[in-house]
Amino acid sequence: MAFFQKKPAPVQVDFNRLPRHIAIIMDGNGRWAKKRGLPRTAGHAAGAETFRTIATYCKDIGLEYLTVYAFSTENWKRPEEEVGAIMGLLKRYLLEAIGQMERDRVKMEFFGDLSPLTGELRQLCRRTQEISKRYEGCQVNICLNYGGRDELLRAAMAYARDCQEGRADPNHLSESQFGGYLFSRGVPDPDLVIRPSGELRLSNFLLWQSAYAEFYFTDVLWPDFSKEELHRAIAAYQGRSRRFGGV
Ligand code: IPE
Ligand code: IPE
Ligand code: MG
Repeated sequence: MAFFQKKPAPVQVDFNRLPRHIAIIMDGNGRWAKKRGLPRTAGHAAGAETFRTIATYCKDIGLEYLTVYAFSTENWKRPEEEVGAIMGLLKRYLLEAIGQMERDRVKMEFFGDLSPLTGELRQLCRRTQEISKRYEGCQVNICLNYGGRDELLRAAMAYARDCQEGRADPNHLSESQFGGYLFSRGVPDPDLVIRPSGELRLSNFLLWQSAYAEFYFTDVLWPDFSKEELHRAIAAYQGRSRRFGGV
């Protein structure tokens, strides 16, 4: 029997070779709360704190793009009370983010159909986007009422309208042109998609954009996700060989 537990070796990340774009499915808040005998909403509050820490850290290490899945088109199926609590946390987060923008200098965008949100929340999202437009550091995209299929349908409809009105040619559509109809227009595809909480699925996240993304899954629940866990994900990514169909 060992007399002492050897500390695991620190993870080696090459900060000069970071992925350009990391996307995270922020999952596991409910289970985190349950494990502690707390209501699920306490897990969402803890998850919001983790988001703040990770987003700030991504900016500090010079990541260009961070996209997070905060609320899916399917999450409306949850009890009204839970949805209400998530929206309340979002409001609190945005108010605080607006107050600290000059300090944080993070550019924020929203992917998803914001129309079912309350007028107040929509206004806060708009203000956040508007004020942070001029910042040039990390761009953080928050997916809110986002679904990959919904995004693709919206793009298809917008393209059909453009064809109907003579602005687009129905016989010619390139991948990059089509990308211009997505919420993610102008943002490069994610290089690395991280899903904590042990689930091994995409759950309707960035279906088009993750065509060649590298995946990193961990059992850690989102509220427990840390900088060290992010380092592990990046180190795993840096050890992969990306071929994009070539050799
Ligand atoms: C992710 O955590 C947050 C949202 C989907 C809004 P969950 O609430 O899905 O947590 P689990 O998966 O039930 O543990
Ligand atoms: C995906 O997590 C959505 C977000 C994290 C916002 P879910 O918890 O909704 O996904 P499923 O239901 O486990 O597939
Ligand atoms: Mg979940």
